[in-house]
Amino acid sequence: MSLPKINPTKTAAWQALSRQFEVQKDLALQDLFLQEPSRMEQFSAQTEGFYLDYSKNLITAETKEILVRLAQEVRLKDAIDAQFSGAIINETEQRAVGHTALRNFGALPEEVAVALERIKSFTGQVISGQWKGYSGKPITHVVNVGIGGSDLGPDMVCEALGYYQNHLKLRFVSNVDGDHVMHQLKDLPRDQTLFVIVSKTFTTQETLTNAQTIRQWFLEEAPESGIAQHFAAVSTNLEAVAAFGIDSDQVFPMWDWVGGRFSLWSAVGLSIALSVGYDHFESLLKGAQDMDQHFAKTPFEDNLPVLMALISVWYNNFYHAESECVVPYSQYLNKFVAYLQQGIMESNGKYVDRNGEEVDYQTGTIVWGSTGTNAQHAFFQLIHQGTKLIPADFIAFKECLYGQQDHQNKLLANCIAQTQALMSGTKGQAIESPYRVFAGNKPTNTLLIDKLTPERLGGLIALYEHKLFVQGVIWNIFSYDQWGVELGKKLAVNVLNTIESSDDSSKLKFDKAQEFDASTAELLRRIKQ
Ligand code: F6P
Repeated sequence: MSLPKINPTKTAAWQALSRQFEVQKDLALQDLFLQEPSRMEQFSAQTEGFYLDYSKNLITAETKEILVRLAQEVRLKDAIDAQFSGAIINETEQRAVGHTALRNFGALPEEVAVALERIKSFTGQVISGQWKGYSGKPITHVVNVGIGGSDLGPDMVCEALGYYQNHLKLRFVSNVDGDHVMHQLKDLPRDQTLFVIVSKTFTTQETLTNAQTIRQWFLEEAPESGIAQHFAAVSTNLEAVAAFGIDSDQVFPMWDWVGGRFSLWSAVGLSIALSVGYDHFESLLKGAQDMDQHFAKTPFEDNLPVLMALISVWYNNFYHAESECVVPYSQYLNKFVAYLQQGIMESNGKYVDRNGEEVDYQTGTIVWGSTGTNAQHAFFQLIHQGTKLIPADFIAFKECLYGQQDHQNKLLANCIAQTQALMSGTKGQAIESPYRVFAGNKPTNTLLIDKLTPERLGGLIALYEHKLFVQGVIWNIFSYDQWGVELGKKLAVNVLNTIESSDDSSKLKFDKAQEFDASTAELLRRIKQ
């Protein structure tokens, strides 16, 4: 079972969408609401805890119907089934794509169940204080050392679930920027800190450099035997972890069938389980599982990830929107957009289709954003009155966590008012100054979630995972590889050798043998001077 390989632009639905765009390109959202009393019922969907209002989009019943036909013509259902069945759908790396298997409670693969048990036991010992550092004191601080998928997911989730956190203080070191590493280490109690080194490959330059620096810093005061109590690792590369000196009892598995950017559900989420406890970690996974089931079983017309993906394709490929924005109205979700950026852009930033041909249509969306209400006071001006079309997702939680109802009312009021303003603008109002006119007609989705719990966060993340997969299927690209990050990594080795070599820097000039162009050579010369 492999993914279908259908050029979307050759489908009848794509042609129909092109015609539909011509018909509706001058439509105004405000008019659609006036003309269609049942617009809300037609363009909203829900699943346990999630309500999606997609009525404020530039779509009609006909647009939606053709978009769904597009999903059918590219055989999306077969693609979804192929992914859930564990088929090798990551063809360019010859791997299955199994992040949903990590949370498939009731039918967990044996090795996953064993790993979860180990996570439960280890995190339980650390949280309870039973696990002691080299001086006999309990662990108070945890530092996650990883980058990309080995950092963004755990970091985002630990912050998002801040309300549920225990006494352990979490830090994240990802960048190879030594100033940041030393800054993070500065006030850490060596004898009460646990370092979790997370690297699927255990070859990533940043993570290995940071891990070595931290190890040296640790051994400045701690005994060598303390490594066993203070270092844990998550990786597929057991040999490299052993060579680093981490006790095999503290090495947690990763599997090549889990992509880094989809790995927070595995032992890569160890820091999450340390931070909020295993039970909340399991709830996070179960919330994602609920979304998986919704995605796998719901007809496309009512399927949240499918609808969000189709609407995004509509703007990307027919309205030629340059980007899309995500605005969560919860400060706890401060890192959510950065997390999505890796998921979405590393997955769908591809220009070669599943037949190995160059595409002649736009693929991967550019996603950006930040939390509301902060974003309103920063970049919203451009969405309201700029010249670009920027479809936006507004995410809000109905209930707050600390019972600050006055704040919550204001937070929600702002979220809703912004989508209203973006849609309605000042149409129909007599405004004298052209500078005060809002054209409106700016599309948004509003995702209203009952409460920021581990379950709902899991569901929210899974929703975007599935959305990006659906888009990749439609665009006929392989979403689960990331060859585009390799070239820079390779060239960095050569550049680093040059920076570190004792050769006379004045001799650095454009030289075919050295593979440096004039610009690169000049920059290197200046760095070495
Ligand atoms: O450079 C990109 C990448 O390969 C990501 O896909 C991955 O999440 C990250 O690097 C970290 O990789 P690793 O977990 O192997 O250190």
